[in-house]
Amino acid sequence: MSASWDTFERYRQKGLDARRAGQWDSARIYLLEAARSMAQLSKAAQGPELRQSRQEMAQRLLELARDCQAARQSHRPGPRQPPEAASQSDGGAARQWLVREKPAQRFDDVAGLEDVKQDIRLKMVYPFAHPDLASKFGIHGGGGVLLYGPPGTGKTLLAKATAGEIDAAFFRISPADVLSKWVGEAEQNIKKLFDAAAAEPRSIIFIDEIESLIPARRDEGSSVMQRVVPQILQGMEGFDTKDSRSILFMGATNVPWQLDPAVLRPGRFDEKVYIPLPDEPARRKMLEMYLRYRPVAGDVELDRLAAALDGYSGADIKYICDRAAIVPFLQSVAGGAEEQITHAIIEDVIADTPRSVTAELLKRFEQWTGEMVK
Ligand SMILES: Nc1ncnc2c1ncn2[C@@H]1O[C@H](COP(=O)(O)OP(=O)(O)OP(=O)(O)O)[C@@H](O)[C@H]1O
Ligand SMILES: [Mg+2]
Repeated sequence: MSASWDTFERYRQKGLDARRAGQWDSARIYLLEAARSMAQLSKAAQGPELRQSRQEMAQRLLELARDCQAARQSHRPGPRQPPEAASQSDGGAARQWLVREKPAQRFDDVAGLEDVKQDIRLKMVYPFAHPDLASKFGIHGGGGVLLYGPPGTGKTLLAKATAGEIDAAFFRISPADVLSKWVGEAEQNIKKLFDAAAAEPRSIIFIDEIESLIPARRDEGSSVMQRVVPQILQGMEGFDTKDSRSILFMGATNVPWQLDPAVLRPGRFDEKVYIPLPDEPARRKMLEMYLRYRPVAGDVELDRLAAALDGYSGADIKYICDRAAIVPFLQSVAGGAEEQITHAIIEDVIADTPRSVTAELLKRFEQWTGEMVK
């Protein structure tokens, strides 16, 4: 294909290699370059679907790059030091790929989605926190929950926050991990993953972007991915009785219609939870969250801004707040005196930022949700 496709592939491969080796700095730089190339490719793409899927790929690479930065900054200096989760029986190989996080996020860090949080509390939080009460009332926790909804609505954030709420170890399985780390040893690795998760008092196994692990229609996916995920899904069923009190499964996708029906089979991700765009109170909360620690002028009216942000995703709103900070920051640097973020600045940024989720896409989610409850 084109030169930029080659560039993308090269950087992506180097990034994944460096990441596997725990060279977080180089991994981050290569992955950022790969994301940049993919973003360029998305601009050149013919047709909205291809463009969007490329944008999403670029987004995923950016997330991976961010994870590398986080890994470097955390006291987990890469694979050389054994992660606490790797049980004694785990050889060196497991250390290469088993990343156990302890997310710091809590439900309070997720704006809105009150019903969803309550649902997760019932299914995942309370039965863990009060096991005796739960069994008295016949409330069974655990199992699998699939979060689906438009991009940037907080699905990944919510999964992390769930782990934070119940102080669970968080094992995240992403397409890039499976591709880069599981080749050739998929079966053993799945066993190690489950062993490590079971060795913790509480664990969440989170399969992010689950649709890209299981291509339902296309056969272009890697055979590794196609082998691994069905096995994980089978493993989930095995956990139904014995360990359902200590291991929870969460999945997330923004293209649920691409899922293989096997994912949704009973005993797997049978609970499906729609994560919609934020409503007005949630948008206001996000403005508060993302402007809280910044110099904000007295004329900023959060209510009016929250109303104007109808149709924007959480990720959009965070981006808008980040961008609104740039102008007064630069002015402060240039002028010496500290400037503030004004209402007009934020309005300008909003006017300049298109909604990342189209009405068409929203309709597609409604349709899929409707078909699911039938
Ligand atoms: N409900 C929310 N509350 C607070 N912040 C949010 C919320 N939704 C999104 N954000 C912000 O947007 C960022 C991206 O959200 P997140 O990665 O969780 O979206 P996602 O639903 O997983 O998207 P994708 O489908 O593209 O993976 C978050 O890290 C957070 O900064
Ligand atoms: Mg996500």
